[in-house]
Amino acid sequence: MGSVVSRITGTGRHLPARVVRNDDLRAWMDTSDDWIATRTGIRERRWVDGNLGPADLAEPAARAALDAAGCTPADIDLLLFATLSPDLNFPGSGCLLQARLGMGTVPALDLRTQCTGFLYGLATADAWIRSGMARRVLVVGAEVHSSGLDLSDRGRDVAVLFGDGAGAVVVEASTDTEGPRVIDTLLHADGTGAELLMLEAPTSRMQPRLTVEMMAEGRHYPKMDGKGVYRHAVARMPEVARALLSRNGLTTADVDVLVPHQANRRINERVAQALDIPENRVVHTIEQWGNTTAASIPTALDLAVEEGRIQRGQTVLLLAFGAGLTWGASLVRW
Ligand code: ACO
Repeated sequence: MGSVVSRITGTGRHLPARVVRNDDLRAWMDTSDDWIATRTGIRERRWVDGNLGPADLAEPAARAALDAAGCTPADIDLLLFATLSPDLNFPGSGCLLQARLGMGTVPALDLRTQCTGFLYGLATADAWIRSGMARRVLVVGAEVHSSGLDLSDRGRDVAVLFGDGAGAVVVEASTDTEGPRVIDTLLHADGTGAELLMLEAPTSRMQPRLTVEMMAEGRHYPKMDGKGVYRHAVARMPEVARALLSRNGLTTADVDVLVPHQANRRINERVAQALDIPENRVVHTIEQWGNTTAASIPTALDLAVEEGRIQRGQTVLLLAFGAGLTWGASLVRW
């Protein structure tokens, strides 16, 4: 019997039905389709309609991934939930989804590593499987940003970027190397850049955690140094991609499909250029879904699989960068 590998046996996604086009944002703030599309590539995003949280969006995405894998919630022995917009401060969204799926007492773990959350989840699933601690893991990335954006001129630099959505994959222990499997993952974090992109309040550092004054100052909305984030993203993503490929004896010429985090189309074009990966090998979803942080890679992966852009035997590179700062890359042989 060969050694155990982590096979990806199913993918799924769920995007809310409500489409918010760039021009629709003009109802709240001074912006334009041209400004947003030129700088970010975004034309529209999906926002929830009403009071829904990431666990609500995650449920149909998870069920789709389970169906694709030909299994049920009862077959899963670990649930990993990546989100920066948890339904509640505590308990984690993983616990909420675990109950919704009727998963008994299976462990549920939230990952708070923002846009890199899904890759941290995939690496954790891979490690639990290869150590024998789990046999079948559900990895979810889900976000509801729309309820936490400053929809005024003050917040327009950030508010136009983000969308809601959920993506999921099922990862299984197997000794069979046929079919999609995780080859390797390389992860990083640099907390000295935490203030480049953060949402501060409510905060346990303040007594009380949220005041009317803090809300008036907009401290319950995300704040971003856009240029600082951009600079780090275009340097760190090619760096981690090359390091991961090289330790697996590969080069960027071996990458058949690049599925990057969807923060900004210009960032992804620059990263692909730096890696000499031609545009037709790069998956973009930002035009229609915006930046869905932890959900961006699993939703893009699911779409690419559905559209037949990823074929059996191909080498797929997943690449992320986000708040924390966090960044990382995963290699998957499809
Ligand atoms: N509509 C119209 N004008 C705007 C808007 C808007 N939505 N937002 C800002 N502006 C104005 C600014 O006020 C500024 O006006 P001024 O020159 O009169 O002062 C002007 O546009 C230029 O603003 P900049 O901030 O300099 O714009 P920049 O060219 O840097 O682009 C952007 C901003 C798109 C955010 C860019 O910095 C970027 O993409 N950064 C990366 C951000 C990112 O990807 N974040 C998420 C990654 S991490 C994660 O996913 C969690």
